[in-house]
Amino acid sequence: MLTRSGFSGLLHPFQACWIALLSLIVLPFNQADGQAGATLDPDVIAADNYASTHKPMEVLGRLLFWDPILSGDRDTACATCHHPDYAYADGRALSRGTGASGLGPARTDTSEGRIPLVRRNAPTVLNTALNGMGSFSGQGGAQPGPGRMSTGPRAPMFWDHRVRSLALQALEPIKAFEEMRGPSHTAEEILDVVVSRLQEIPQYRYLFDEAFGAGSAITTTRLGEAIAAFEKTLIAMDSPYDRFLRGQTDALTEQQQRGLKTFGNMRCDSCHGGTMFSDYALHTEGVGEHPLVAEADAGAGSFNFRSPTLRNIALTAPYMHNGTIETLEEVLHFYNEGESRNPNVAKAGDGQNRANLARLDASFIDVPRMSDAEMADIIAFLESLTDPAFDKSIPASVPSGLPPGGSITSASTGGQ
Ligand code: HEC
Ligand code: HEC
Repeated sequence: MLTRSGFSGLLHPFQACWIALLSLIVLPFNQADGQAGATLDPDVIAADNYASTHKPMEVLGRLLFWDPILSGDRDTACATCHHPDYAYADGRALSRGTGASGLGPARTDTSEGRIPLVRRNAPTVLNTALNGMGSFSGQGGAQPGPGRMSTGPRAPMFWDHRVRSLALQALEPIKAFEEMRGPSHTAEEILDVVVSRLQEIPQYRYLFDEAFGAGSAITTTRLGEAIAAFEKTLIAMDSPYDRFLRGQTDALTEQQQRGLKTFGNMRCDSCHGGTMFSDYALHTEGVGEHPLVAEADAGAGSFNFRSPTLRNIALTAPYMHNGTIETLEEVLHFYNEGESRNPNVAKAGDGQNRANLARLDASFIDVPRMSDAEMADIIAFLESLTDPAFDKSIPASVPSGLPPGGSITSASTGGQ
């Protein structure tokens, strides 16, 4: 089921590189932060360890990913909700964006309730370069293979697949009111506002020139492309399971090997199959609504949502499109119930014809009942899908001079 051999040759140098990076102190990208008029010194940029090991577009994309200048009120970056401490997710059931401070579960509202929670759980950005891999038959999309690190322009994004490609996806959170835009700008104007802010910062002008060629204008398209270039470096595909597949038989414990078999026997792989442990298709599982989300979330329609990748799943609790299931144990119990928890989705055993309700996916109902031991084995197996050696580096500064990652450092008492 896997085309690993082509990948491993490609990925290992990257990962060796990440490890080397982690052991080094990340130097400030440019000591002229915040001084928009300061002279640019290419040597200072070259001194950054990240810049010396990455392409100019990746360097630029990483700084944009961490720079809260992309948010209306300059307090939220992509990294606010996709942070390496939480495996490029945020560890929350529902994300909290602009008008808040703190990181992860400790992020709290500072807008006095004017900005609601995001209605969905933040998926990891790790491996999103591979979204859709193995699921493109008949859709004219790319197939995985050596040298192909991205599934390209048709890669499905979001829990409901409403956007294709990383580059287009990257513009959506900037426009979303509760994520990055906030109350100061309209959705129609915000991208232009952000682009003109970037144009005013010499360091960004320099970096866009480096990435796209001298004299290239800063545009929203290039903004998305640069962020996507950085995201494509966030690969975590060398888990114990991958080493096991390459022949290292002791990479998985006996329990994990049992769990791998049980995962197949319980037909989890009918939706979580292939290299990415996802069919990148939409299914209705009747996950319960989150009590803090005002309106029922019908996903892509009929309450269906994508089967998420299970790679690095042990690092990205809580689970499901709205984070309503806290642990892997509880996810397994949910499958064991095999029953809708959503009033808008008919129950499996519902004999009456409830035409007005969405229907559970047959493959969900078909998951056989599992014993406690079988569930424990599957969880052990899922834990073998973790590759902890992903890039955890944080830029010491970003060209706007704002705090990298936005308002994430302030102490907080926790809460929603
Ligand atoms: C306020 C928190 C927040 C911020 C800020 C944020 N995101 Fe997200 N991100 C989310 C949530 C929540 C989702 C899922 C939304 C959905 O499916 O409707 C998501 C989805 C994604 C996905 C899709 C992953 C997949 O597998 O489908 C990518 C890629 C992504 N974000 C990248 C970014 C980038 C790039 C930025 C900055 C431009 C950003 N995010 C800013 C919370 C956030
Ligand atoms: C019908 C297809 C299907 C089958 C069969 C299936 N899943 Fe899923 N899985 C999904 C979908 C769809 C979601 C997301 C549902 C949602 O959020 O509404 C999901 C979510 C998950 C999650 C949470 C992922 C996250 O990032 O939040 C885990 C873990 C999981 N499934 C494991 C399993 C295991 C283990 C099995 C077998 C016992 C299994 N799944 C069987 C489709 C399936």
